[in-house]
Amino acid sequence: MAKRLAGKLAVVTGAANGIGKGCADMFRKAGAEVIGIDLDEGDLICDLTDEQEVADRFRWIVCEHGRIDVLVNAAAFAVFEWIEKLTYEDWKRTLTGELDIVFLPTRAAWPGLKASGAASIINFASANAVHALEGSPALAHCAGKGGVLAMTRQLAMEGAPHNIRANTISPGFIRTAATQRHLDFDPAMEQQVLAKNMLKRLGEPQDIAHCALWLASDEARYVTAADISVDAGATAW
Ligand SMILES: NC(=O)c1ccc[n+]([C@@H]2O[C@H](COP(=O)([O-])OP(=O)(O)OC[C@H]3O[C@@H](n4cnc5c(N)ncnc54)[C@H](O)[C@@H]3O)[C@@H](O)[C@H]2O)c1
Repeated sequence: MAKRLAGKLAVVTGAANGIGKGCADMFRKAGAEVIGIDLDEGDLICDLTDEQEVADRFRWIVCEHGRIDVLVNAAAFAVFEWIEKLTYEDWKRTLTGELDIVFLPTRAAWPGLKASGAASIINFASANAVHALEGSPALAHCAGKGGVLAMTRQLAMEGAPHNIRANTISPGFIRTAATQRHLDFDPAMEQQVLAKNMLKRLGEPQDIAHCALWLASDEARYVTAADISVDAGATAW
């Protein structure tokens, strides 16, 4: 693979699994120095919903490296339940796992991103930010991902004077440990998802990482406040 990210320092949250791991692996092949952060694996161990831990880890990164060129916020967790069964605790837990987990690292990374002079933030919204999928008990998740979408537009506006770009990728159904649990729980779900999928296959983390690689690179230097659907057409019909 051409070294499209040569010289860049990338921080990838949620790097131990799924899409975060796919991005971290591909970014390394493209020449970036990658610092992966996750709960109990990776280059740095951190609970990304703990304000103090997040501040400490990012302060260390900026002290060591002087800048952050790319921030990929792939860490997330969510509770899926229908409204009548969704507890207030699970609602709040999901918003923490989808919004705080993006806000805290982004705020902590901000001085490093400003120091880059040409930085890129990549957040993950979802088809669920714009679309209700029949059969999916995704109320809190939809709220969280709608929030990520709106938050990222604002970050793009606040970052522009510092040449910090901010974009979302909205994946369709990607095969990861998290989604495998849904498939195992409800075997009918795969067919339901594929019915809305023009290419008739579930996505792989690499399908998302290719888009993230482009957004992280200077090839996307004029792209900010964009939301890119990588969902095999699922939200287009
Ligand atoms: N997989 C999909 O189909 C899909 C679809 C749309 C959007 N997304 C979004 O893409 C992103 C990545 O999804 P994924 O499927 O790869 O997820 P995943 O569950 O496979 O991986 C998430 C990673 O985040 C880490 N993590 C969770 N909580 C953490 C915490 N408090 N501190 C540190 N690390 C923590 C986990 O340990 C895990 O390694 C998420 O924002 C997800 O909502 C995924």
